Amino acid sequence: MQWCTLVLVVVFLVSHASCIRYEPNWSSIDSRPLPGWYDDVKLGIFIHWGVFSVPSYSPKRISEWFWWWWKGENLQPYIDFMDKNYKPGFTYADFAPQLTAEFFDANHWAEVFEASGSEYVVFTAKHHEGYTNWPSKYSFSWNSMAVGPHRDMVGELAVAIKNTSMHFGLYHSLYEWFNPLYLQDKANNYTTTEFVDRKTLPELYEIVNKYQPEVIWSDGEWEANSSYWKATEFLAWLYNDSPVKDTVVTNDRWGKDARCHHGGYLTCADRYQPGTLQKKKWENAMTIDSNSWGFRRNAILSDYLSTHTLIATFVETVSCGGNMLMNVGPTKEGFINPIFEERLREFGEWMKVNSDAIKGTRPWKAQNDTINSNVWYTMKGNNVYAIVLEWPQGGTLILGSPNPSISTAINLLGYPDKFQYSTRPTGGIAVKIPRIPKNKLPGKWAWTFVITGLIN
Ligand SMILES: *[C@@H]1O[C@H](CO)[C@@H](O)[C@H](O)[C@H]1NC(C)=O
Ligand SMILES: *[C@@H]1O[C@H](CO)[C@@H](O)[C@H](O)[C@H]1NC(C)=O
Ligand SMILES: *[C@@H]1O[C@H](CO)[C@@H](O)[C@H](O)[C@H]1NC(C)=O
Ligand SMILES: *[C@@H]1O[C@H](CO)[C@@H](O)[C@H](O)[C@H]1NC(C)=O
Ligand SMILES: *[C@@H]1O[C@H](CO)[C@@H](O)[C@H](O)[C@H]1NC(C)=O
Repeated sequence: MQWCTLVLVVVFLVSHASCIRYEPNWSSIDSRPLPGWYDDVKLGIFIHWGVFSVPSYSPKRISEWFWWWWKGENLQPYIDFMDKNYKPGFTYADFAPQLTAEFFDANHWAEVFEASGSEYVVFTAKHHEGYTNWPSKYSFSWNSMAVGPHRDMVGELAVAIKNTSMHFGLYHSLYEWFNPLYLQDKANNYTTTEFVDRKTLPELYEIVNKYQPEVIWSDGEWEANSSYWKATEFLAWLYNDSPVKDTVVTNDRWGKDARCHHGGYLTCADRYQPGTLQKKKWENAMTIDSNSWGFRRNAILSDYLSTHTLIATFVETVSCGGNMLMNVGPTKEGFINPIFEERLREFGEWMKVNSDAIKGTRPWKAQNDTINSNVWYTMKGNNVYAIVLEWPQGGTLILGSPNPSISTAINLLGYPDKFQYSTRPTGGIAVKIPRIPKNKLPGKWAWTFVITGLIN
């Protein structure tokens, strides 16, 4: 191509791209193609950290809702916990000075997250308690610079994550349980929008302009409509004019009419795992502590999902077209406990061997195998990946879904030799599994057979 042709093509692409303007309505917002990086990366890390990380207590229940369980629902275990351990009159706000973050090292967090094989990170900029992990102009005295760490947590983490190959994202709660402005709008049946105009929207614009996140993970939307939240107005700006307009992705939690219907990708419910192929891109946001997003000092070992369960959940998610956002709850000191760190590093060990079957893949024709319930499929180019969650016993792996041709070949990721197979008269294939000593197996937890030359 001659240089002048190239210039013309570039000029055309640039002018064409800038012609697309999104309108503040759902049909226009929903027509935006999801930026490609998101579907390729598959794995992200979610981090829940805020004033709730100080009590970091909850019996088999999400701990980041501590304030609500205590003062919104008046649940007995939380009242007892406070009576037993704190002076009378101690308020939730009194926890904030103890959010010390003295061990917070954003580069260390980044290193641990990257070691898991994750390619994006989503940090709670603000949870339902309203405390902002950045020095917000709109959260006077209830932010991480004014009280607690006296640091810009979002800013430090943004710098550290952007210094890796990972994408940086922010979680943001639209509503705040006890904000008087919000409660007034609610009392007015959402016919007024004081809270949205003076709090929610200003801080959303503030975090985007200041930290340029490539994920906006919205939440706390469910009591009101997206029209109350002025969500499509914000998203039109985000997609048309913001500093991240070309790369940012958002979720679906933008109003009670929006979740599971509108926005960027769908999150539907927490720990969403439909088990079947979905038409629209979706994400399974889930937790390593099976009970909670925020840290719980009273969690016991069995509350934490095993590495095998985490990988099995992930493999099913990716097969069905989803991404997985795996949550870690650091301590009030800003520290990632070794139990989380171990899970993440083991996950990364698995990804090192198996990432060909994950990164940049797309769902195959079949998601799980028709015969073998321990097998999930992905594909990329001519490769079909059969990820097996249990090492096949008895010298044979039966797969019902693949339809082989004469040129079909099978090998195992991380293993040098090809595998023999035979076509089953009733459909599918039987792969001959040689005796491989345990220490010669490529990794633990799950294994990937790469199948080429299939007819289907
Ligand atoms: C929504 O925006 C589209 C542009 O994509 C426009 O054609 C349509 O009229 C708008 N719909 C409403 C209900 O405003
Ligand atoms: C970026 O990461 C490297 C290690 O990969 C580290 O040495 C350096 O200090 C980091 N830079 C910043 C600004 O954190
Ligand atoms: C809000 O709606 C409820 C139920 O529809 C009604 O009883 C109440 O009067 C309304 N309040 C206001 C301030 O409009
Ligand atoms: C929310 O939206 C639905 C559907 O658009 C509408 O029927 C309902 O009246 C709206 N409610 C409020 C409080 O705006
Ligand atoms: C495959 O998944 C579907 C949906 O979860 C389930 O109904 C079916 O039983 C699964 N098949 C096998 C063989 O496990």
